[in-house]
Amino acid sequence: MADVIILGIETSCDETSAAVVKNGRVVLSNVISSQIDIHKKYGGVVPEIASRKHVELILPVIDQALKDAGQKLKDLDAIGVTYGPGLVGALLVGLCAAKAIAYSTGKDLIGVHHIEGHIAANYIEFSELEPPFICLVVSGGHSHIVLVEEYLKFKVLGQTRDDAAGEAFDKVARVIGLGYPGGPAIDHSAMSGDKNAIKFPRVYFNDSLDFSFSGIKTSVLNYVNTITQSGSKIKVDDVAASFQSAVVEVLVHNTIEAALANNLDKIVIAGGVAANSLLREEMKKGAMVRGIKVYYPNIRLCTDNAAMIASAAYFEYIKGNSSKMSLNAIPSLKLGE
Ligand code: KG4
Ligand code: ZN
Repeated sequence: MADVIILGIETSCDETSAAVVKNGRVVLSNVISSQIDIHKKYGGVVPEIASRKHVELILPVIDQALKDAGQKLKDLDAIGVTYGPGLVGALLVGLCAAKAIAYSTGKDLIGVHHIEGHIAANYIEFSELEPPFICLVVSGGHSHIVLVEEYLKFKVLGQTRDDAAGEAFDKVARVIGLGYPGGPAIDHSAMSGDKNAIKFPRVYFNDSLDFSFSGIKTSVLNYVNTITQSGSKIKVDDVAASFQSAVVEVLVHNTIEAALANNLDKIVIAGGVAANSLLREEMKKGAMVRGIKVYYPNIRLCTDNAAMIASAAYFEYIKGNSSKMSLNAIPSLKLGE
């Protein structure tokens, strides 16, 4: 079969990204323009600013991705683009660019679910990886345990009932003065802290693999208030380590439960929080003793990027799936819709 070359476009949050991927697994280019420095001063992503920045950056980023890959628009087989979930104004920028390219070149347009993209990042990293497996998708917007039965067959086995894991990292980081984005800052700070210093709550549900992270966030807030009101200072590293350890413990426990319940010996981690060093280490430790192998992508492929979107689009393409020109952005798109 001839090579399939796909241009991926991702603008669901604060990264403007375009990438060219061959046969779903070989990255020819992956240009990521992060807006983190712009949003930092507001302590989080400001949707309107994100959309405007995407408008400025989208065409240069696409041009760069094609140039880096040594490809012309006419060489492409399809354009894959995130159409949800995400910030609606941000999604629309990438989607409009993708539609314009698909329309003017006559190439297929393939709408990609953002979580499907995060999962696919692992197909790039591990050329031999194939379903079935359990995937823990943890990012700023999602905390899902997904049974990936086939390339395009997903079953959500558990998800957060309130905050996403990454959201909890970001909010707690703000409370303890570590700034935005909180995940990498907490990860770093925790390395010098004592994870047993403070016992933050771990929430488990009976007969469900769902998560809840809003309680731990409130618990950290209460702890910080109590200490500061008594005139003392919190030990930032200890709070970071104790919080991180509590979140990681629940993520690892439920994911391994899901693998055991489904008789699967492969666990995949995806999404921005998959960059977390303790999560990677603890998942490996917990899985190894049960004969389960753990996969996670390198950090650049964990956080939002367009290569993962092009990879996911490839698996749709080879099944003959494509989207209509009427495809719209769906901010709260569910997996499997
Ligand atoms: O996947 P992503 O780039 O965007 C979304 O789809 O949300 O994930 C961003 C999230 C942020 O909440 C960020 O704090 C978190 O991933 N994150 C981390 C780490 N690196 C990024 N969380 C924990 N530890 C990290 N090392
Ligand atoms: Zn993401």
